[in-house]
Amino acid sequence: MIDSRSSFVLLRMARMSIQIAPSILSADFANLERDLHAIDNADLVHVDVMDHHFVPNLTLGEPIVKRICQVSELPVDVHLMIEDPDRWAPEFAKLGVHSVSFHMGATHAPVRLARQLRGMGVKACFAVRPAEPVEPIFDILDEFDMILIMTVEPGFGGQKFLANQMGKTRRLRDEITRRGLGTHIQVDGGVSPSTAHIVAEAGADVLVAGSAVYGSPDPAKAIDNIRNLAQAAYKD
Ligand code: DX5
Ligand code: ZN
Repeated sequence: MIDSRSSFVLLRMARMSIQIAPSILSADFANLERDLHAIDNADLVHVDVMDHHFVPNLTLGEPIVKRICQVSELPVDVHLMIEDPDRWAPEFAKLGVHSVSFHMGATHAPVRLARQLRGMGVKACFAVRPAEPVEPIFDILDEFDMILIMTVEPGFGGQKFLANQMGKTRRLRDEITRRGLGTHIQVDGGVSPSTAHIVAEAGADVLVAGSAVYGSPDPAKAIDNIRNLAQAAYKD
């Protein structure tokens, strides 16, 4: 029998677990199935979709995301760095993905799109670039399952972590805690064993890591290492 105090403690413990989402942008695209299985101990697989317009890079689209969903054991977290997500995000939501992130600077009707994605059974996530403020999201926070804070300018893996995004992350975590929401905070860009404690201390609980995982000789070990370092530093 669990009394209300222990269930509160259990709830807090559940909220506190750090999730690691390796980005396949740093995987070997010619050996994608092998590289997806190399991260079986992760919590999500992060798939970066870029369109040569919203960001100066081009990656992959629906047919490949569909195959990743079929081949991977992990929930698939799609990060859309594309123009007109209002038009295209629902197409990705049909493929069997777990979550879809779309960018503040690209969408016209974020609430409508989030509701549409949720209506399709997919987690709705809103992404902000380094120069975009997080405060305008506060009034519509409960429309989203996760907020993605970019800790590099989007477009490429292997860039240097922007520590100046941690104030934003902390203000968002404080707002989520104050209102008792379950919203996840994802950070993406430059997350590694040397920055994991910084993002977790600021209140991020979903960590994307591309080069730090796939650039390691043992990706599974790198995932455990980043998760342990972040877990020890997490403060909600
Ligand atoms: C960058 C992508 C990231 C990228 C992260 O625009 O959104 O997901 O793969 O790569 P690292 O971890 O190497 O910074
Ligand atoms: Zn990403």
